[in-house]
Parts: sequence; structure tokens; C-alpha cells
Amino acid sequence: MLRYQNNTKETIVTILQLDSSITGENSVSRQLTRSIVERLVATAPGTEVIHRDLVADPIDHLTLGALADSSVLDEFLAADTVVIGAPMYNFTVPTQLKAWLDRVLVAGKTFRYTENGPEGLAGDKRVIIALARGGFYEVGSPASALEHLETYLRGVFGFIGITPEFVAADGIAMGPEQREASLASALDDTVRLAA
Ligand SMILES: Cc1cc2nc3c(=O)[nH]c(=O)nc-3n(C[C@H](O)[C@H](O)[C@H](O)COP(=O)(O)O)c2cc1C
Repeated sequence: MLRYQNNTKETIVTILQLDSSITGENSVSRQLTRSIVERLVATAPGTEVIHRDLVADPIDHLTLGALADSSVLDEFLAADTVVIGAPMYNFTVPTQLKAWLDRVLVAGKTFRYTENGPEGLAGDKRVIIALARGGFYEVGSPASALEHLETYLRGVFGFIGITPEFVAADGIAMGPEQREASLASALDDTVRLAA
């Protein structure tokens, strides 16, 4: 895990950056999270960034015993903004990101059950998710039934009280021109998000 601060002024914002792509320097989602975090840091002097690379430093699969260690949850709860790189692998999140989510969706901490149904408890933070998908999954398209990445992330963060913001690069596997166009468009969107 890498921790850095953009200057010596008093810390006013903590950003937690999570990356889960297995493709290293070729990764689209990593380029997007980097751009988002760089822009957020530039607009908020004193920001502290905690970078958790879920591939280089993976979290163990969930076990009952593992829940005794709340360090991943505490790190999430302490962050003001969470920036997540979420590539689509086999139509959903990478297993590395699922392992992180398994430590964060904890009854009594990030949600609770009430007589009126479940209630999210983590609504005090901003979550920005950078999606990268090989294909296109628009609502109504033939492939839309296989879209379990954005829908899943919207669902789980909604469950804990957060409405995430998304930046998406789609059609990454549809040839180099499409890849470049989608990446450029998504990078433009990161400017808008961080403004
Ligand atoms: C192991 C693996 C599985 C993939 N599965 C899918 C998939 O199910 N659907 C899809 O549209 N693209 C799929 N892709 C393409 C990726 O979503 C695409 O390359 C994207 O850019 C990955 O993000 P990254 O560049 O940050 O790794 C897959 C890629 C890999 C490496």
C-alpha cells in the first residue's frame, strides 16, 4: 500500500484509490483511476492518497475468521472519497475487488437491518468508479443481460447508502481505434468528474 500527500499543509481530504486490473501498464481502468486521483489532488491541497493495489497486494478470500480483522473496513470508513478501478472480467468484478467488497459490506458497520428493511450507513463519502469493458452492454442491447459489473457495483454501494459516480471505457476489445476513442472519451469524463 502506498500513502502520500500532495504537500505539507494540514490534511483535509483522504482519497482511497483501489485498483483491481491484472493487466498492469496496459490497463485502461488504471489509467482512469490515476487521472481521477491526479485531478482531485490538484484541486484540493493537503489531500492524502492511500493507494491499495488489490492485485499486487491481494486480500484473502473471505472466511469467518477473516472478519475479525477490520483494517480494510476501517480504511474505507476513514476515506472521504474512494476511487475504484473496476475492469469487467467474465461479466463482473475481478475476484480481487470482490474480496475487498466482502470486507466492506459488514452488517452493523456499513448497513443494518431495521423493521423497515435494510439501511445503508456509509452514505457520507463520495465513490467514483472507473469501468473498463471489452464490449458494449447498453440497456436493451443483446449483451445487456450479461452486464453484472456496473449493475452489481451500483447495487452493492446503494445497499450501504452510497450512489456511486461512474466513468466508463467500453468496447476496449473491439480493435485499437475503438480502444483509443473510448479511452480518450473516458479520460475527458475524468476531468468533468473531478471539476
Ligand atoms: C480475464 C479477462 C476477462 C475478460 N472478460 C470480459 C467480459 O466478460 N466481457 C467484456 O466485455 N470484456 C471482458 N474482458 C475485456 C476487459 O474488460 C477489457 O480488456 C478491459 O479493458 C479490462 O480493464 P483493464 O484494461 O483495466 O484490465 C476481459 C479481459 C480479461 C483480461
